[in-house]
This record gives sequence, structure tokens and C-alpha cells, in this order.
Amino acid sequence: MSENNNRAVFNSKFAAIATTVGSAVGLGNIWRFPYEAGVHGGGAFMICYMAFVFLIGVPVLCAEYSMGRATRSNIFGAYRKLAPGKRFYYSGYLGILASLLILSFYSVVAGWTIEYCIASVSGQLDFSNSEIGHYQFMILTTGWRPVVWTIIFLAINTYILLRGVTKGIERASNILMPLLFILLIAFCINSFTLSGCREGLTFLFSPDFSKINSSVLLGALGQAFFSMSLGLGCMMTYASYFTKETRLGRTALITSILDSMVAILAGVIIFPAVFSFGISPEAGPTLVFEVLPYIFTQLPGGNIWSTLFFLLLFLASLTSTVSMSEISIAFFCEEKKMTRKKATMLSAAISLIGGLICALSFGPLSDFTIFGLTFFNLFDYLSSNICLPLGGMICSFFTGWLMDRKLLKKELTNNGRYAFRIFPVLIFFLKWICPAAIFLIFLNSIGII
Ligand code: TRP
Repeated sequence: MSENNNRAVFNSKFAAIATTVGSAVGLGNIWRFPYEAGVHGGGAFMICYMAFVFLIGVPVLCAEYSMGRATRSNIFGAYRKLAPGKRFYYSGYLGILASLLILSFYSVVAGWTIEYCIASVSGQLDFSNSEIGHYQFMILTTGWRPVVWTIIFLAINTYILLRGVTKGIERASNILMPLLFILLIAFCINSFTLSGCREGLTFLFSPDFSKINSSVLLGALGQAFFSMSLGLGCMMTYASYFTKETRLGRTALITSILDSMVAILAGVIIFPAVFSFGISPEAGPTLVFEVLPYIFTQLPGGNIWSTLFFLLLFLASLTSTVSMSEISIAFFCEEKKMTRKKATMLSAAISLIGGLICALSFGPLSDFTIFGLTFFNLFDYLSSNICLPLGGMICSFFTGWLMDRKLLKKELTNNGRYAFRIFPVLIFFLKWICPAAIFLIFLNSIGII
């Protein structure tokens, strides 16, 4: 693997965890989880989501980590090196498609966070009055401003990417993710004082099993993959920068636990507020941005809290989009032999076009729907509910059935230095449980079973 000798590696154990958590924790947890849970009946969704995170997500994450570090390559190189002559690397194209689709709508929502952040700093987002909060929200989603913020967000993302992998990302996420976590805990405590607390928590935590249907299952599966940055080789690419000392199984577990904790905290913050203020939990993608102003209105110094919160949310989005962009950049660089600069610009240009379409789909393009979905929702549905689980299915099938078992074990035990006792269990999951469960959920959602 001499060609890869000059690849950068993350320089500490903490950095490996911090960066993968930085990729995993983002709008997926704080914006997407509550809205998906709200649309899909709360508790029923929650229980499916948690089951998928640990029964499917963690094994697939171990598989991605092992493939990435074993080959020190992006998803294409990884499949090629591990299965020469086989076409598994086609799943890399799926990953690129998904990453660009996600980047498009993600940038729009990240743009909303900048708008809210700037408006809070300047006092325009006046939390003394929830009506003004709502007014701001309408401007946010229907005017020309989201378009501008999307462009600005993508520009910032591109700037960071041009500075290279280890420097920018590591530094930012190391300090800021813990801070975000603390802030979320503070808001969470505040939630317990709201009048709709009991109702909100019941909605989120008491599952009504009769509500579990194909759309809840597919939604929860997609959310688990989205939130853990799984299925398109993102974690594979990151693991290719891990050192030999990083313990993959442990890192996978820690990443998943922290990631789901952030999602649950977000749920505990949002749903009591939803019920206190009489908003419908089924509002969809705009739910969180509609509810947060109400929460901040209740707090003394609402503007300060909101500035800090949206700033951190913006930074959390940035660490996620950086990781997403890395997929197509690595492809253009390593497969198409472009310079890093050119690759970065190309990936930014494609996501800019997608981003503009998504930004407009709340306003001028809102009547333009395909299968009843606006562009924004379509991009989200296609990538999260279809591409990611499909990529995960291929990855688990591949590692379970075809990848050299010794190599897999070597990665998971750090060359025999640590025992990885649940190895047979992991293999069983990768071989049978993960591919079969994903396949059955797909069949179920197209109405075959
Ligand atoms: N997991 C991130 C979030 O929750 C989003 C994300 C980053 C992602 N990289 C990804 C999703 C790769 C899917 C694939 O916000």
C-alpha cells in the first residue's frame, strides 16, 4: 500500500472518536430525528430506531471501519482491493450519489441555522414574542434568504475542505462537540419545567406497537443510517485515516452511543415544547425550527441561548458536511486523478446546484413535486431511506460472506493485540441479520410482504 504512505492519519485515539462523532452528530440528530419521530408516531419510531442503531448500525459501522483501515482507501479502492475483479465497488457510485443528494438538502437546513444564528445575534429573532419567532420562520423558509444562506454555507464548507483533512476538522470538533452536548443537557433540564413535559415524553418514549408499519420501519432504518453517517463509505474513508492503535469495535460502540444520546436529548427538548405550545408533532422538516423559538422565548436571555445554540448547531453541521463531501472528493482525487482543489470545487459545484433546487422547494418550487414529494423531500427520501440502507446491506453482505475472515479479525483485534470476543456474533449479524433485515424492510415498504 505504498501509494498510500503519504496519507495523513489522525494523531490520537481521542481524535479518531472525536472526528467520527463529529461526522455522526449533526442536523441528523437535532433536526432530522425529532421531525422523523414526530411524523412516525413518536414512541413506535423511537423503539425501531434504537433497535436498528444497535442491531444493524453498530455491526455495519464495524464493517465500514474494518474495510477502511484494512485498505487505507476510499470505498472504491476498498472494494477493489478486497475483492479484485468483482463489481462490489459499484456501491461506491451509490455512495457518491447519496452524498451529493444529502449535501444538497443538508446545506439548506444548515443555512437555516446561520440565518437563526445571525438573527439572534442582531436581536432580530426576538424571542420575547413567539409570534415574531414564527414570522422569522416564514421568512426563513419561503423567501430568497435561504438561497443565500445555502450558498454561504457551501462556501464555508468548501473553504474548510481546501485546507485539508486532519487540521480543520479535528480542531473544531474536539472542543465544540462537548460544548454542544452540555448545552443540550441544559435545554433538556429546562424542558422538564414545561407544561407539556409529561405529554411530550410519553409521546416519545411510550411505544404504541400498533403504529409500527412499513413506513415507520423504513423511516427508522433510514434515520439510523443517516445519523450514524453509514452506508456510503463515509466512515470507511474516515477509518482509512485511523492509526493502527484505534480500537475499531470500541470506537464504533462509543460513536453510536454518543450519537443516539444526542438524538434522544434533542427529542426530550423538542417534544415537551411541541405539546406545551400546541404545535403538531407532524410538522415535518420545519418542526424543530418552528418549536425552538418558543423554547427560547421561555428562557431569560433567550437571544444569548439561541445564538450559542445555533452557532454550535451550525458547527456540528459543518463537521458533518465536511465528512460527506470527503466521499466525492476522495473519488474525484483518487479515482479520477484530479487535484484536491479541483475535486473540491467540482463537488461543491454539484452540491450547489442541488442545494439551490432544495432551497427553492419551500418557496417557488413548492408546487413542483415528484411522487408527491418536493425536491427537498425527494432528495432526503431517496438518499436516506434507499441509498444508505442499500449501501449498508451491500457492505454487511460483503464483509460477512466475502471478505477475508482473518483480515477482518486482524482489524477488529488490532492484529491480535486485543480479544474481540463477540467476533462470531458480529459475523453472524453481518452475514444474516443485517442484510436480511434491510432486505425485508425494503420488501415490506414496497408492499411485497
Ligand atoms: N450523520 C450526520 C448527521 O447526523 C450526517 C452525515 C454526515 C451523513 N456524513 C454522512 C449521513 C454520511 C449519511 C452519510 O447529521
